Amino acid sequence: MPATAIPRLLDHYRRTARDLPWRTPPGSDKTPDPYKVWLSEIMLQQTTVATVTPRYWRFLERWPTVDDLAAAPLEEVLAEWAGLGYYARARNLHLCAKQVAALGGFPNTEARLRALPGIGDYTAAAIASIAFGETATVVDTNVERIVARLHAIPRPIKNVRPKIRALAADLFADGHAGDIAQALMDLGATICRPKAPRCDQCPLAAVCKAHASGTPEAYPPKPAKKDRPERHGTAWIIEQDEAIFLVRRPGKGLLGGMAALPGSDWQDGPPVQAGSLAVRHVFTHFALTLRLESRATPPDEMEGWWQPISHLDAAGLPTLYVKAIEAWRALEREAALIA
Ligand code: ADE
Repeated sequence: MPATAIPRLLDHYRRTARDLPWRTPPGSDKTPDPYKVWLSEIMLQQTTVATVTPRYWRFLERWPTVDDLAAAPLEEVLAEWAGLGYYARARNLHLCAKQVAALGGFPNTEARLRALPGIGDYTAAAIASIAFGETATVVDTNVERIVARLHAIPRPIKNVRPKIRALAADLFADGHAGDIAQALMDLGATICRPKAPRCDQCPLAAVCKAHASGTPEAYPPKPAKKDRPERHGTAWIIEQDEAIFLVRRPGKGLLGGMAALPGSDWQDGPPVQAGSLAVRHVFTHFALTLRLESRATPPDEMEGWWQPISHLDAAGLPTLYVKAIEAWRALEREAALIA
């Protein structure tokens, strides 16, 4: 990579940086609050800036410091996270907050951050560089794509990760790692996008081999797509006196610890009963069809609670169950219209 590439990238970032609430301005002497950097990085995993921003503000208002978060009940943190998905993030966030509070603050090196719950290679490097000014190699999917294009690597990213990491390390080697990381995140989100990259606006176009090839979008090549398996299950809608019966899912596993509709376990395979009311929800590793069935009362000994329908939001239901209850209520409204 020519020596001019990084100064050009940083100059472009200083002129065009997105104004995001967890950032300090590029080139600033001040580093941002590690709590805010950590929280934003966890929220931004698999979730867009547009979705995260209002949720980030709400979260910070409720728990302004890592000590406040550490002292909060897990159930409240999970409910606050509702709708953001990937709930293991929220469980680990809470566990991590407790450890950080016990340590008296965030550790300031990549290696010690990496030892905390929910902090992987990327997040440790991002926090160390952005919040503590440490030199670290920050590799997320944006950085992977940018590096694959800069070098016109002709293989799917998942087959060349060590090579991409080694090439990415060159970008971060000479300091300013926090600004470089954020510059690359902005570049990946706004210019070097997966589809329709805007090479005419890119500060790295002159040194980019994918751009020189004339077909930048062809890099990195996509791996062959695997089919997503199907699963199915039943959820029970148990309604009495303007309240709906909810349960809490087991602490571990998918949607662990979250509020839920009661129902059957989920089975492998496509849905068995066509024609009945169902909702479909696509998780990362499978697609679920959840059939909805009305019951008069909860099964004996089932632990749960009656959530007033007027306060359903406060239950912190994941999107799957919000969709299910909305579909059910839409059907009820239709039936009421016909009756
Ligand atoms: N995506 C992940 N981390 C980010 C950050 N700090 N700024 C913008 N987008 C991001």
